Amino acid sequence: MPRKMLLNINGVDKLIVTDPEESLANALRALGLTGTKVGCGTGQCGTCTVLLDGKVIRSCARKMKNVPEFSKIVTIEGLGSPTNLHPLQLSWIVHGGVQCGICTPGFIVSAKGLLDTNPNPTREEVREWFQKNRNACRCTGYKPLVDAVMDAAAVGRGEKSMDDLAFKMPADQRIYNSDVPKPTALAKVTGLCDYGDDINHKLPFKAWHLAEVHARVSHARILSVDTSEAEKMPGVVKVITARDIKGTNRINGMCSYPTNKSDGFERCIINDEKVYQYGDVLAVVAAHTEKEARAAADKVKVALEELPAYMNGLAAVAEDAMEIHPGTPNMFCDMACIKGEETKPLFETAPYVVEGSFHTTRQPHLVLEPMVGLAYFDEEGRLTVQSKSQFLHAVPLMVAEAVGIAPDKVRVIDNPVGGSFGCTMSPHLEAVLMACCLILDHPVCLHFDYAEQSFFTGKRATSYFNVRLAADEQGKLTAMEYDFLFDHGAYHDGTSDPLIEKGFRWCGAGLYFPNVRGVGRICCSNHAFGTAFRAFGSPQALFATEQLADMMAEKIGIDPLEFRYRNTYWPGTTMTSGCTMDVHPLPKLVEMMRPKYHAALERAGKESTPEKKRGVGLAFGMYDSTFSANDFCEIIFELNPDNTVTLLCGWHDMGQGADAGALVLAHEALRPLGLKPEQIRLVMNDTALHPFYGAAAGSRSHYMGGKAMIDGANQLMAAMRKPDGTFRTHEEMARENIPVRYNGKATTVGYSSPCDFNTMQGNPNPTQTYGLFMAEVAVDTKTGKTKVVKMTLHADFGPIGSKLAVDGQMYGGIAQGIGLALTEDFVDPARDVTLRAQGFPYIMDIPDDIELEYTETVRPTGPFGSSGCAELPLTSGHVAIVNAIYNATGVRIYELPATPEKVLKGIKALEKGGKLLPPPKYYLGSDMYERLEYLRQHPVVSGEEAS
Ligand code: FES
Ligand code: FES
Repeated sequence: MPRKMLLNINGVDKLIVTDPEESLANALRALGLTGTKVGCGTGQCGTCTVLLDGKVIRSCARKMKNVPEFSKIVTIEGLGSPTNLHPLQLSWIVHGGVQCGICTPGFIVSAKGLLDTNPNPTREEVREWFQKNRNACRCTGYKPLVDAVMDAAAVGRGEKSMDDLAFKMPADQRIYNSDVPKPTALAKVTGLCDYGDDINHKLPFKAWHLAEVHARVSHARILSVDTSEAEKMPGVVKVITARDIKGTNRINGMCSYPTNKSDGFERCIINDEKVYQYGDVLAVVAAHTEKEARAAADKVKVALEELPAYMNGLAAVAEDAMEIHPGTPNMFCDMACIKGEETKPLFETAPYVVEGSFHTTRQPHLVLEPMVGLAYFDEEGRLTVQSKSQFLHAVPLMVAEAVGIAPDKVRVIDNPVGGSFGCTMSPHLEAVLMACCLILDHPVCLHFDYAEQSFFTGKRATSYFNVRLAADEQGKLTAMEYDFLFDHGAYHDGTSDPLIEKGFRWCGAGLYFPNVRGVGRICCSNHAFGTAFRAFGSPQALFATEQLADMMAEKIGIDPLEFRYRNTYWPGTTMTSGCTMDVHPLPKLVEMMRPKYHAALERAGKESTPEKKRGVGLAFGMYDSTFSANDFCEIIFELNPDNTVTLLCGWHDMGQGADAGALVLAHEALRPLGLKPEQIRLVMNDTALHPFYGAAAGSRSHYMGGKAMIDGANQLMAAMRKPDGTFRTHEEMARENIPVRYNGKATTVGYSSPCDFNTMQGNPNPTQTYGLFMAEVAVDTKTGKTKVVKMTLHADFGPIGSKLAVDGQMYGGIAQGIGLALTEDFVDPARDVTLRAQGFPYIMDIPDDIELEYTETVRPTGPFGSSGCAELPLTSGHVAIVNAIYNATGVRIYELPATPEKVLKGIKALEKGGKLLPPPKYYLGSDMYERLEYLRQHPVVSGEEAS
């Protein structure tokens, strides 16, 4: 029954009517206070943090019946406003505490609770406070948040002023290569940024809510779907099944490689014949409220005939496994890498050979904002979907035919996004929204809870790598052989083709191998589908070769740093795909690391005890700057009547700072106009407003977008330029009938070449990003638990655009790498449906001591000499950590994550004088040499090449 209450909210007495069973978070949001976000909904993330009578609480976990009458509640809206910021809010802005920003209100309110009781905390006390209050962040790596609290506390104590904190415009008015804050930070620190669920709360029209009926098994034949009981539930408008879908009901998985045996159309919007993975959608309920839709969804009865579920790639490629997608072999693609001489004889005669088999896990993205979206027909009759897509223009291509509409009648818009990192590459949520909107001819919205987010979004594909390296007497690498399998789960989702290329190219990256032979394979299974994830493909490949590099160094008796220095990419060397590189920063990055590495080893030696063993590990990391060969990107610059400039572009923000990147690049490109940053208006991520930008993937957004911006800016400025060198105003342009709108374009055609399908040799990316990670760990020998004490990253992205954004990317990516190394996994889709179950790293899991240093080698083709950066920090920090564990304990981790149990088992075996045996070679469906020979005998003859 509704309850009337008197509460003091943000200093104002309010009379409210509430449902006692409702959470305080939802009650506040119903009042319009949507600065309080709901992430996990189960008390694990702190996005919903408010102060209740001065105490920090997680409001999603507090029912209204447990909120006393007359309570004083403070939400983010009560702290400060855009024109009167609280010191914490300003400090968050200038320290880069805001990336996606979904955690920001909760953190700031939590920090207020701390400073109210302890105005002079130490960094450790700040960290303990956030740990205690379960404030979680997936983007920032936490360090900037602690920096922000420390400075805000100093303001609170009168030791600093707000002015001291504020960003100062450089004297030359140049914001490229500065710490300029991101433009959206102000809205995010004040709780005024509306994310998808906030937008859905505030619609001017009534959207019907959708709830999906999910399969609770991983592989089955669908016998029947009975919706009769659900149809009678209160508030239900319709229960939609596969029969109602107006189109083909098959999403285009964008398989284009001629070596791919699938047509890529396996995935349904609503499954009609089979269940391929846990969580597949069997029906969708539309109702007036979310609660009504969910209650009715529970009443849909589904009869299934369960089939054997192949929950990993090894099981799926076994000879007796049935075809998961009938007509397509489970191993749906395999290809060869052929570089240099035959490797078999080289291995037979090499003085040094190391080998191993390595397995990486199904790393979950663990974003704090679950999937959310909205679909409606806009004022021009376009079927419009608002969501978190990171490839807006792909949605019509992948989905329009499936839902039954012409692609040009589809409009895709991004809401502000509470993190994605790759999990929004799949267009399934958009497909459900669009299909239901079309069927019902009414606006619809959909919001996952965290369990649905967990079991129904894609994950990093798991991998199995058998690799061996050969070196000569001088410790120079002579050859590599690899045989790998990616398990891409149930569906392609647009990412299976590119993944296999990444496996080929990143295996061994950073090290020069003159001769390479290998087979790369990719299969489906009944586990969660593989999708994009930051550093897509490289953490799997580098997990093998950056451990083998250490093993080889040890075998030869060389320091691992020196071994890498000797064998890295010096001028004249080539990558595994046979291409040369435009720049060679790795030797310098190693040189810079040398004194730090030796100091770290000395520290480890001094601080190691029998109980806590210290170790140091290294790993090279590399990534692309474009999606593939022949990449393309387009933007628009338009001069506005008030002589400001609008940038229209589709740079999707996954939490990485697209707004900051777009602003610094546009400002630099337009610098001759002398505009202030606030005179550049960013209009982003709406397919009705801007041309094709391409995916936010492969660290391409900065590189490709920046080049397009330079082109667009040059066109606009050329049109504006008068004979005397000054620039026309908008009025003058109009008077002279000169266009004010220009499309800037960028392409890598001409300076990239696709990999050949038969050899995987080619140069698909015009430039790369480079890094060297160093991890320092302490391993508890009683429990096997590893603590990362310090991470150091030396990296090169060319001249940096937004320093704040790049630092933020590095901190956040490094934290995700620590999770990958030690805790993160998605094993059981029925069980692993919370942040904690999937190993989310909280602040005490991430060191406060993270050191970043950059060289800024100019890229000849890059915008202002730069490349992107976002993928690099997650390429191989995890390998540096497992190398450090080995250095500390002698225990080598072949299969992630390095759980305390695994490490302890190794320690115990060594203590008993035992020898740790490496895992046996994975059987990947056939012998590597035989398969290589087969592929050579059966080349792709289409003449097409991987793009
Ligand atoms: S702790 Fe409340 S939403 Fe996560
Ligand atoms: S900024 Fe913290 S979760 Fe994105």
